[in-house]
Amino acid sequence: MLNMSEIIYKKREGMALTAEEIKFFISGYVDGSIPDYQAAALLMAIFFKGLNREETFQLTEAMRYSGDTIDLSTIKGVKVDKHSTGGVGDKTTLIVAPIAAAAGIPIAKMSGRGLGFTGGTVDKMESIPNFRTSLEPEEFLNQVNKVGMAVIGQTAHITPADKKIYALRDVTQTVDNFGLIASSIMSKKLAAGSDAIVLDVKVGDGAFMENLENAQILANLMVDIGTDAGRRTVAAITEMGQPLGKAVGNALEVIEAIETLKGNGPEDITELAIQLSGLMIYLGGKADSHEKGIEIAKDVLTSGKALEKLKSFIKAQGGDEKVVEDYSIFPTAKHNLKLLAEETGYVAQIQAKTIGLASQHTGAGRATKEAEIDLSAGIYLHKKVGDFVKEGEVLAEFFGNDMAKLENGMKEARKAFTIVKEEVERPVLIKKIIGL
Ligand code: URA
Repeated sequence: MLNMSEIIYKKREGMALTAEEIKFFISGYVDGSIPDYQAAALLMAIFFKGLNREETFQLTEAMRYSGDTIDLSTIKGVKVDKHSTGGVGDKTTLIVAPIAAAAGIPIAKMSGRGLGFTGGTVDKMESIPNFRTSLEPEEFLNQVNKVGMAVIGQTAHITPADKKIYALRDVTQTVDNFGLIASSIMSKKLAAGSDAIVLDVKVGDGAFMENLENAQILANLMVDIGTDAGRRTVAAITEMGQPLGKAVGNALEVIEAIETLKGNGPEDITELAIQLSGLMIYLGGKADSHEKGIEIAKDVLTSGKALEKLKSFIKAQGGDEKVVEDYSIFPTAKHNLKLLAEETGYVAQIQAKTIGLASQHTGAGRATKEAEIDLSAGIYLHKKVGDFVKEGEVLAEFFGNDMAKLENGMKEARKAFTIVKEEVERPVLIKKIIGL
């Protein structure tokens, strides 16, 4: 008979746990027979002693099967999922999913909501009037077969172990651990059922991983887990020192995603979308190399096919597809404020985390899970790292319905900018691709 106290002891002493012990912990914690205090003690022991590759895989598998798993077998073709470890201004899903789908890759995707300084795709999509982020399982599968893509919020019955453990990690200072992060992310991705997975591991001030070395450890770990589970998995390590693109905030980001699909997007988000969708097209078997995948991605983008795919996706999920042509249909902010440069020079830094927090202050993000958000609120950056700016020129604009919140957001955002006299190089967007 297994015993939780002995399992905690083993990990505290740095020993590896068996698959049975890990399963015992997960099932007992989900059914309530293992109390929070013992789970917290084990998490802290894991935090200090770590998990080896096999333990990380077993933890992922135990969490993956702790609730429902999605069966995508009725969808024809190689289904490819994409996941970002989270950032500021990251509207990539809304661009790469239509590009990959237009190239013939079936996309059956579950996305999350934003919390704290990071945003979530589900909130962004809800800025499209009448858009439904929740579909019945059959509707979801049928839509992918018919339209080529569907994106919904994560259903309540997927990976309950991860939900419960994440909530506990959040209040016990045990979030920041490679094995725990990798197993948390991969358990959800594996339960969601796609055949191949493209991971976008963010690195920089606005990401979980603040340096390249750590991002690489996390990326390798997740690629190993996916591979061990029999899924083709690759990870791109990408820049999150400054926000991605220029728009931060829900409706503002959807508009930027549409503009990118029209060929008018900011350079960084366009480049990232092409690289990631190129990987998805390659893993989905529609190209025989990443380079060929990139060529196909560029083709469907410039031909307008990806934009058409976005329109049919919005319509299929009940949304008003006219938003693609008429941005006045989006929730619009009553107020707007401008942050002006106080000196002339080159933008050397725009701290992503600070902009994420400032955007949350404008009303675009939520501090607690239950908080309501202002879908029209957010920040538009007129300057990015490397740009030249003159004193008095607009650095960023703030939108929202509550003036006090906007002022608060602008005050916070001012701290994010560093302007210097010497010319500044633009950051490299794609740092590394792992698992190709
Ligand atoms: N995102 C997750 O889903 N889990 C973590 O542990 C960290 C980030």
